[in-house]
Amino acid sequence: MADLPQDLRTALDAALSSVPGAQLTATFQRLSTRYREEQAATTPIMATPADVITYSAYRMPATFAAVRSALEQVALQLPDFTPAQQLDIGGGTGAALWAATDVWPALSAATVLEQVPEAIALGKKLALNAESPTVRDATWTTGRLDQTTFASADLVTVSYVLSELSPAQQQDLVAQLATQQGLVALIEPGTPGGYERIVAARDQLIAAGHRLIAPCPHNLACPIPRGRDWCHFTSRVNRSAVHRRTKGAELGFEDEKFSYVVTSPTLQAQAANRVVRHPQQRKGLVSLRLCTGDGELREEIVSKRQGVLYRAARNTEFGDPWPG
Ligand SMILES: C[S@@+](CC[C@H](N)C(=O)[O-])C[C@H]1O[C@@H](n2cnc3c(N)ncnc32)[C@H](O)[C@@H]1O
Repeated sequence: MADLPQDLRTALDAALSSVPGAQLTATFQRLSTRYREEQAATTPIMATPADVITYSAYRMPATFAAVRSALEQVALQLPDFTPAQQLDIGGGTGAALWAATDVWPALSAATVLEQVPEAIALGKKLALNAESPTVRDATWTTGRLDQTTFASADLVTVSYVLSELSPAQQQDLVAQLATQQGLVALIEPGTPGGYERIVAARDQLIAAGHRLIAPCPHNLACPIPRGRDWCHFTSRVNRSAVHRRTKGAELGFEDEKFSYVVTSPTLQAQAANRVVRHPQQRKGLVSLRLCTGDGELREEIVSKRQGVLYRAARNTEFGDPWPG
């Protein structure tokens, strides 16, 4: 469960308190239909103040949770590494900025590049009273990613952006990311299309000399049978009252599905194996679907007789590393 930090929750509640529920619901219908299409955008999808406030109500908690979950796996792989500067490309209202500082509180500077001034205005407003000085003092730059030469940063995040770009724009963006020397983190919706965009970026980054940090435990071809399955993970998100009202949802939580890849040309660390399905628990047995360090998919059954390993398997979650 990746709950929003209390200071972000408070800032969102304050920003949303004066927005009529009917406006949020109406804008939600349009935005969610458009986002589900996963089609490249010739003009920004969220463009107006009503769009950005609605996005912050129903999507920002989920994108925060997805980015946080992905970066948490990186922090597990690289326990001695803390990025000093973050560059967040297509940052919207700042979800990945909040997520990165939540995972690495010592991250000391961040820049958010975003094309929509209204998203930046809300992102800055949400950040005003953040506990993290890095969130409060982040630099927000209005601009298009295809017209910007990126500064180098220890951590570059691109979260839920690729689907808004044409395949050629995605390739150009990834080619620019490949010149970065630190961590490059790409996160997309956990749909077949999101996975395909992540795999294409992954293969392009590997060809440019990057190595995988997460989730893949190898640098070989992805073993997921294409067209029949897709690699994705989930993060549980608590829904606030306004989040539920905006979506017309009853459940107090939702499971955000996401696909991701984190690479680096300089840092090196990989899990021995990665759990790529919800572990199945039966009496005295835990069954783990693994992507292995040999670049294969296999089932591992851990039985109660295996003692410590069995207890570890019972506590292991979808998306976690698993020892070799
Ligand atoms: C779905 S939102 C994701 C926002 C944020 N990264 C998150 O995870 O919540 C996609 C964002 O990418 C931005 N974006 C799309 N194309 C862009 C471009 N060419 N240059 C700069 N920003 C862009 C959009 O304006 C939007 O804010």
